[in-house]
Amino acid sequence: MQSREQWGSRLGFVLAAAGSAVGLGNIWKFPYMAGQNGGGAFLIIYLALVFTIGLSVMLAEFAIGRAAQRNPIGAFAVLKGKMWPIVGFMGVLAGFIILSFYSVVAGWTVAYIVKMASGALVGDADTLGAAFGGFISDPVEPILYHAFFMALTVAVVLGGVHGGIERACKILMPMLFVLLIVLIGRAVTLPGAEKGLEFFLSPDFSKVTAETFNGALSQAFFSLSIGMGAMITYGSYLNKKENLAKSAVWVSALDSAVAVLAGLLILPAVFAFGFDPAAGPGLTFITLPAVFAQMPGGIFFGILFFLLLTVAALTSAVSLLQPIVAYFTDEKGWNAKVTAVVFGFVIFALGVPSSLSLGIWSDFHIIGEKGFLDSMDYIASNIMLPVGGILISLFVGWAVAGKMQSEVTNEGEKPFPLFGAWLFICRFIAPIAVAWILISGL
Ligand code: PFF
Repeated sequence: MQSREQWGSRLGFVLAAAGSAVGLGNIWKFPYMAGQNGGGAFLIIYLALVFTIGLSVMLAEFAIGRAAQRNPIGAFAVLKGKMWPIVGFMGVLAGFIILSFYSVVAGWTVAYIVKMASGALVGDADTLGAAFGGFISDPVEPILYHAFFMALTVAVVLGGVHGGIERACKILMPMLFVLLIVLIGRAVTLPGAEKGLEFFLSPDFSKVTAETFNGALSQAFFSLSIGMGAMITYGSYLNKKENLAKSAVWVSALDSAVAVLAGLLILPAVFAFGFDPAAGPGLTFITLPAVFAQMPGGIFFGILFFLLLTVAALTSAVSLLQPIVAYFTDEKGWNAKVTAVVFGFVIFALGVPSSLSLGIWSDFHIIGEKGFLDSMDYIASNIMLPVGGILISLFVGWAVAGKMQSEVTNEGEKPFPLFGAWLFICRFIAPIAVAWILISGL
């Protein structure tokens, strides 16, 4: 086997995995999902799912990846063979689909850096809403930004895991964290913000339905980057000394912290400005410019925010492309650079109908009333990731449990007292709970 690239340090690995987890899912998707699903109750169900099932599946992925030192498809083949590599294949496909629309939305964040800087994002709530709607429905402009973002993603993958991904995460993740806290300081002191805090922090369980669980589950998988093998791929570049369980706890905690901070930023502002919390995907893009307009130095903070959000999206996008590249280089001997460029183009092309579905193709529905972008998101996040999570749990719990025990304890050197509990979750709780939530949601 060829020698594999490795992360430079444990911090580097945790930050890279957290870089994959923290992205548009936390700052763009989480606040509007919470807004659409009742706020506080959604938050609690979300956190409960993250720290039980989510954390267990993440640890399972790290262990599979490090044990096999392979891409998701090869990892299942090396550890067990038979039909299992299909799980990895489905994961790589899910990454492909997610990246196609993810890059479109990430393109919006790039565009908003430019728009903030040029002073285009001013005016009242209605003006900002109209500006956003006009921009995303344009048939050309968002596609150019999507192309630009995809090119950036390919460029970082070409830089390799250690040089490209790890270095970017180490500097920019902490910056994003600090900036969020500064912005929350402004948002929660806006007049009327208390209602948003109450909406987000005091749960109203009477609003909970099967859909709330389904939404919280798909959001947990999406946000933690689990169910598709991104974390298998990142685990495969990890040396044998690090503590996998601790790393999984760190990554899940950082990811949840950023989601909660984003909720604390966006939802109070939504209420203060009289927006509708259930407004959906435009929430972050319309609300935040309104916050910046109310701050001294707002343009500066606005530019910085969309810049850091772009970087957070980039470190996630890279983790969606890397499994595909790892598969073709590990298994087919392809050149990594050629693979990254070729798939960059293909994924860009698949993203084009997603972008157009918000404008000139909005009458074209795929699943129910959902347009192309929403359908891609639904198929990948609400179906493929949870199904992937079920199969990964079953794999670890039943097919390779013995190997996993030596993997998570580093051949017995690092005790993992919760091994039994983890195995129990992988064997029974995660597959049954996820299947139940999936079926009741459909
Ligand atoms: N976790 C990323 C986010 O929250 O933005 C998105 C993502 C990355 C999902 C990688 C899935 C994945 F494999």
